[in-house]
This record gives sequence, C-alpha cells and structure tokens, in this order.
Amino acid sequence: MAIRFTPLHADFGAEMSGIDIREPLAAEQVRAIDDAMNTYGVLLVRGQPMTPDQQMAFTRSFGPLDLGFRRVKTAPGGDTGHRFAYAELADISNVQPDETIAARESRKIVSNIANQIWHADSSFQKPRARYSMLHAVVVPEHGGNTEFADQRNAWDRLDAHTQERIRDLKVEHFALHSRFMLGDTDYTEAQIAAIPPVVWPLVQTHAGSGRKHLFIGAHARAIEGMVVAEARMLLWDLLEHTTHPDHVYSHRWQVGDLVIWDNRCMLHRGRAFDLGERRELRRSTTLDAPVPADSESPAEATA
Ligand code: OGA
Ligand code: MN
Repeated sequence: MAIRFTPLHADFGAEMSGIDIREPLAAEQVRAIDDAMNTYGVLLVRGQPMTPDQQMAFTRSFGPLDLGFRRVKTAPGGDTGHRFAYAELADISNVQPDETIAARESRKIVSNIANQIWHADSSFQKPRARYSMLHAVVVPEHGGNTEFADQRNAWDRLDAHTQERIRDLKVEHFALHSRFMLGDTDYTEAQIAAIPPVVWPLVQTHAGSGRKHLFIGAHARAIEGMVVAEARMLLWDLLEHTTHPDHVYSHRWQVGDLVIWDNRCMLHRGRAFDLGERRELRRSTTLDAPVPADSESPAEATA
C-alpha cells in the first residue's frame, strides 16, 4: 500500500495515510516519511492508538532519542516521579505519577502552561531536537489544540530590508527562560546548571529542504551584541510575524492521533484548556544530527 499525503494547510502540514505506524518500518518507508517531513514540516496520522513500546520503536527509526527538558526535572532538587518506563517518553499531561490530576499549584501545571508559549522543543541545547512525535491518549472536551507555524515561510515573508538587518544575528536560548517568564523561578542551582544556554544563528538553512528559516521561540532570551530590551522586542516582533493566524495550522486532537513536527524549522504551542480536566499526550523526540556547518558562527565552524 502506497503512503499518501493530503495537505492540512495551504503553507505546510499533511495528513499521512496508507501506513500502519505501529508495525516495524521498511527503510524506504522511513525515507518516504523523512522526505515528506522535509517538505511539509508537520505530519498527522489519525486513528492509530499506540502503546509506549510502539511509539518508541517508531521514533527510534528516525534517529537517537532526545531527553530534553527532563534533564532539568531530574537534576538534584527536582522531582523523580515519571509515569512511563522510558525516560525519553515525555509525559505531556496534567496527570501525576499517582494518576490523579495535578494540583493548580504544581510544577506539572506550569509545564502544561509553558508549552502554551510558541517554541521549538530543545532549542536550548546542541544538538537540538529534530522530530517531536506527540500522541493523543486522553483529550479534553474543549480547547487544548496544538498549533504550528513554519519558520521557513516566515523568512520568505519578511521584507528584504528586515532580512538584511537580521541575517547575521546570533541568539542565546536558555531552557528555563520560558519558566522564568511565567514566574516559575524556584529551581536549584543544579537544575539551573543542568542545561547551559546555547547560541544559535537567528537565520539558518534547513538541511532537509535547503530553505532559509528563522530560529526563535520561548527559549530565545538574548541577541549577541544587542541591548536586552531591543533584542527581546525584535524577537517578539519576529514571533508575531511568524505566527500570524493566516499562517498557523491549529490541530484539534482526536484520541489515537500522532502528530510529528520538525523542530528545526517549525514552532508549536499548546492552547488553553480546563486544567482540571484530564489531557494526556505522550511525546517522543529524536535528536538532530550534529550542528550543520552553516548554523555555527565562523569561529565555531573552524574550531
Ligand atoms: C510538546 C508540546 C503542546 C501541547 O509536546 O512538546 O509543546 O499542546 N505540546 O501539549
Ligand atoms: Mn513542545
């Protein structure tokens, strides 16, 4: 059976059908999905409920696994409870290890809310995340969509003057920046040190499609050589431009959906829902290849 792709939005995204992603993949199926990811940036598979084992096996077909923000959670002083047998399977839910819904005051709820700020998963580390794969297990009756925007499209839509002005800028990303913005500041020194900030070029070339793109989001906190206030305003302006409603795909979840996105070039965010109502998704994530040459500053590239 041939894999089929049906566009989800005029700019990017497709629904993939004609493949059972719970079965082991042939090499040519992995290639077909990689090719489609490079074109569409977001792929949706509907109606295929997966066990954690099946999700991890599928994810591993696309590269090594990313641990991401869990390194902050499990550093000394953090919590250790986890609902899954796999450390690399992120618990994107408002549910605690004892299966009850987390209290409003808990860090679990802060995590849900932090995911509602536009971001790219693990943009705060090198290598960063390549594919995130988010699988819906329990969805709320209202709200809780996940939205996507394409940072390649955003670059293409910038005027030539702005492109020229920002082309060589370097941006610092820090894992806890979005938490601090939400007033969630009570982390131990070990947690703060668990993921040191990294610098990424603001404008990069997507290795999979050869297209230029912005690389911003909730972890971006500073621009090298620029006053903080000016840098943050520029980052906000670029984020507003990137996420203009005409260029956003908003995914309404059904149980058994898997959505895959390319963190190198896409931004995503969760949308609000009743935090007292159960919402359970599981995210597995692959690591990107070691940093592409044009994504490093000249000094780093020749080092
Ligand atoms: C994620 C994420 C948003 C959501 O899983 O990485 O940001 O809607 N999720 O839960
Ligand atoms: Mn995310």
